[in-house]
Amino acid sequence: MRWFIWLSQLFYLLLLFYSQLTSSSSSSFNSSSPLLCSQDQSSALLQFKQLFSLSEIASLDCDISYPKMEFWKEGTDCCSWDGVTCDSVRGDVIGLDLSCSMLESTIPSNASLFLLPHLQRLNLAFNDFNISQIPSGFGRFAKLRYLNLSHSLFDGQVPLELSHLSQLSSLDLSGNFHVSFETSVVKRLVQNLTKLRELHLDEVNMSSVSLTSFRNLSSLASLSLEACKLSGSLPDLDIFGLQNLRELNLGYNFLIGEIPSSFSNLKALSSLSLGGNYLNGTIPLSLSNLKELSYLDLHWNNLSGRIPSSLLNLKELSSLILTSNSLCGKITSSVSIRNTQSLENLLNLTNCFFVGPIPVSFGNLTKVTQIILSHNYFTGQIPSSLSNMKYLNFINLSYNKFEGSMPISFGNLTKVTDIMLQYNNITGQILSSLSNLKYLNVIDLSYNKFEVVENQQFLDLHANLLQGNLPVPPSTMIAFFMSNNGLTGEISSMICNASHLEILDISNNNLSGKIPQCLGNFGHHLSVMDLRMNNFHGTIPDTFEKDNSLATIALNGNHLEGKLPKSFVNCTNLEVLDLRNNKINDSFPYWLEALSELRLLVLSNNKFHGPIRNHKNKGLFFSKLQILDLSHNEFTGLLPRIYFENLEAMMISNENAQEPQYLAQHFGNYNGYVRYRVPTGSYQDSIEVTVKWSKIELPRILTIFTIIDLSSNQFQGEIPHTLGRLKFLRLLNLSHNSLTGHIPSTLGNLLALEALDFSSNKLTVKFLCN
Ligand SMILES: *[C@@H]1O[C@H](CO)[C@@H](O)[C@H](O)[C@H]1NC(C)=O
Ligand SMILES: *[C@@H]1O[C@H](CO)[C@@H](O)[C@H](O)[C@H]1NC(C)=O
Ligand SMILES: *[C@@H]1O[C@H](CO)[C@@H](O)[C@H](O)[C@H]1NC(C)=O
Ligand SMILES: *[C@@H]1O[C@H](CO)[C@@H](O)[C@H](O)[C@H]1NC(C)=O
Ligand SMILES: *[C@@H]1O[C@H](CO)[C@@H](O)[C@H](O)[C@H]1NC(C)=O
Ligand SMILES: *[C@@H]1O[C@H](CO)[C@@H](O)[C@H](O)[C@H]1NC(C)=O
Ligand SMILES: *[C@@H]1O[C@H](CO)[C@@H](O)[C@H](O)[C@H]1NC(C)=O
Ligand SMILES: *[C@@H]1O[C@H](CO)[C@@H](O)[C@H](O)[C@H]1NC(C)=O
Ligand SMILES: *[C@@H]1O[C@H](CO)[C@@H](O)[C@H](O)[C@H]1NC(C)=O
Ligand SMILES: *[C@@H]1O[C@H](CO)[C@@H](O)[C@H](O)[C@H]1NC(C)=O
Ligand SMILES: *[C@@H]1O[C@H](CO)[C@@H](O)[C@H](O)[C@H]1NC(C)=O
Ligand SMILES: *[C@@H]1O[C@H](CO)[C@@H](O)[C@H](O)[C@H]1NC(C)=O
Repeated sequence: MRWFIWLSQLFYLLLLFYSQLTSSSSSSFNSSSPLLCSQDQSSALLQFKQLFSLSEIASLDCDISYPKMEFWKEGTDCCSWDGVTCDSVRGDVIGLDLSCSMLESTIPSNASLFLLPHLQRLNLAFNDFNISQIPSGFGRFAKLRYLNLSHSLFDGQVPLELSHLSQLSSLDLSGNFHVSFETSVVKRLVQNLTKLRELHLDEVNMSSVSLTSFRNLSSLASLSLEACKLSGSLPDLDIFGLQNLRELNLGYNFLIGEIPSSFSNLKALSSLSLGGNYLNGTIPLSLSNLKELSYLDLHWNNLSGRIPSSLLNLKELSSLILTSNSLCGKITSSVSIRNTQSLENLLNLTNCFFVGPIPVSFGNLTKVTQIILSHNYFTGQIPSSLSNMKYLNFINLSYNKFEGSMPISFGNLTKVTDIMLQYNNITGQILSSLSNLKYLNVIDLSYNKFEVVENQQFLDLHANLLQGNLPVPPSTMIAFFMSNNGLTGEISSMICNASHLEILDISNNNLSGKIPQCLGNFGHHLSVMDLRMNNFHGTIPDTFEKDNSLATIALNGNHLEGKLPKSFVNCTNLEVLDLRNNKINDSFPYWLEALSELRLLVLSNNKFHGPIRNHKNKGLFFSKLQILDLSHNEFTGLLPRIYFENLEAMMISNENAQEPQYLAQHFGNYNGYVRYRVPTGSYQDSIEVTVKWSKIELPRILTIFTIIDLSSNQFQGEIPHTLGRLKFLRLLNLSHNSLTGHIPSTLGNLLALEALDFSSNKLTVKFLCN
């Protein structure tokens, strides 16, 4: 900054030098002609100039500022000076505009400025008068019509003497937030300044002033009292006699109560700002009598009720700011919103009775960061112009009647974190470009018609924090990934119309209700049915038909009860059956032996009970099983010796396979299905196992992984020697049972064993001392 000030000073010095050259030459050339400016006024001005030092900071808020008095020189015609206007006939100084002139100092009451008796216009705005009193001397300008002291760091009370300025037509003291008004001064001012057309007092402290003080200013066209600490209710304006008022700004005060319908008497009103107050009640219907109204700002109040539609049809209305109220009504497309400046944060028009389309011009609210139009009756297409709001981070258009497709331009809302479109009739494809929105956190598209996308085959919206109900996939859907969201409610049985479905993954949501009966037999293509980690209750449907393709059924982590459906035997391709953490109450399903492909059988943490019967079943004994988890049930009797003797998958090694192989690797890469956020591959089975007392989630199950967990049951008797045949068993947990006898020495054959837990039994430990 310093170098800049220095440079600019240098610049002014050079200019000064130059102007001295030119003015001296011109004055010598013009020496014979008399100066227009009178000597006393010229010297009053020069004396006034002496008061000030220059400071760039004093006029910092100006777009352009420079020291206008710099070139005021004795011996030159003051009427030619920058900022000075003279009467062309008599040479009297009638205008002085020193706004944005970098002036810094206090103005004493006896300043020579007040010796300019003919002054009609005076502008000292945007200077720094060093937080000093407004001098009473201003009251001496008997002919003054225009006085502008705005933003000039005055202090204290407005002097009573200003009320002597009976010719004044414009007074601007705004921005002087140290200055305050007393009611008595306002009253005198209003009484005497009958010619006032413009009165701007924004930010002046009027906390002790009543609005009624401003009555009878019959010439007033513009009254701006924004942020003046005004309180109380809005007075009835019919007694005000402000019939010429075109502009009224009472924004950001502490006004309470209702907007009086008598505002309609302000027939000339074209701009009305009442935002940022505590006004309540409804918008008076009578406001629509204001035929000239073009700007209406009622934001940040407590207004309720409908927006009178007649108001919205006012021809001149071009800016409408109703944010943060509880308003209702109709927004017609004829309303164009042009205000691009003041509305920076929230456009909150929720829970009203707005009907019709969102006006395209909403997109002009480019600074809005949150737009909430939920719970209205908006119809039509969502205008793509909304993406002009480049700071938008929250968009809630839910509970309306929007139709058509989602604007492609939504993919350009790069800052957006929340998109709520639930409960509309939006159709078309869910935009793949949404996956580019890296801050997107919540997207709720439920209760729309997105699902009626013809020919959509793959939809991956997993891990998106989707809310609402599970969308119904179209009949063409093949892979439907909806896991890890916040979906709630029941599954609609309409889901069964998707008869081509091969993968249904809706795990890790908050879905509830019963599993639809039709899920067992709605198509013969379903290979993965993953409903785990939800809140489903009731029984598992017993509708599985022959020739189905199911390879994975994962229902763990629900509240399912009753018996296992016998129709599971029709799932002859089943490899993975995970039912842990439910309330299934059944005896051991030995009949699942018929499922010759079964590799994983997890029944832990249920109410299975009774002995595991050694059942002769055509020589099928879960020969491909790699994971048998029956822990945390109420099984009794002896350990199932017959199985230990026949779990062939645990007897042979397939570690020599060249690539690691995983269970249920049914699907290759889908080309072209819509991916969202976390790219997914094909479906992979996962399982949580308890290894050495800590739970670990194995996202993919290696085919070499072998587990027997029969812990926390009531098994009795001895550990069969035949367990030693399971050479490639890796984890064995028989803890928390009532096993007796010795640990068989054949266990030494378990070459692959990594963890072994026999704790909390009644085993006799035999110490082998050689
Ligand atoms: C002489 O003064 C008159 C009136 O102030 C002005 O209009 C004129 O331009 C001046 N002439 C020159 C050569 O400066
Ligand atoms: C501003 O006022 C303070 C006292 O209030 C004084 O010390 C300072 O010199 C003044 N500055 C100017 C530029 O008049
Ligand atoms: C204003 O009054 C002060 C003393 O209060 C005096 O020093 C100064 O010269 C006066 N200025 C003018 C322009 O009369
Ligand atoms: C007062 O002066 C400032 C700076 O020139 C200007 O922006 C403002 O509009 C003026 N006020 C009135 C009422 O003319
Ligand atoms: C009102 O204006 C008149 C004429 O300028 C003046 O004589 C009178 O003192 C003023 N009254 C007040 C209360 O300022
Ligand atoms: C505003 O004026 C009132 C009384 O006139 C005073 O009590 C209050 O402190 C002032 N507020 C500010 C912020 O100056
Ligand atoms: C509006 O506010 C005033 C004062 O706070 C209260 O007395 C009145 O009951 C409110 N009116 C409505 C319609 O809420
Ligand atoms: C929007 O307005 C409604 C009703 O006035 C209110 O409940 C909600 O909290 C508002 N939302 C925001 C983000 O301000
Ligand atoms: C407001 O929006 C409309 C429609 O999008 C557009 O034609 C107009 O130029 C916009 N006005 C401004 C001031 O941006
Ligand atoms: C969606 O459209 C159907 C008719 O196609 C209608 O019955 C339903 O009420 C609409 N839903 C919404 C939220 O507008
Ligand atoms: C998205 O933004 C880019 C770059 O600003 C622009 O070229 C493209 O037209 C926009 N797309 C839409 C659909 O508005
Ligand atoms: C197996 O499916 C057939 C129909 O394909 C059905 O008739 C039969 O009852 C099912 N088996 C069981 C045990 O439910």
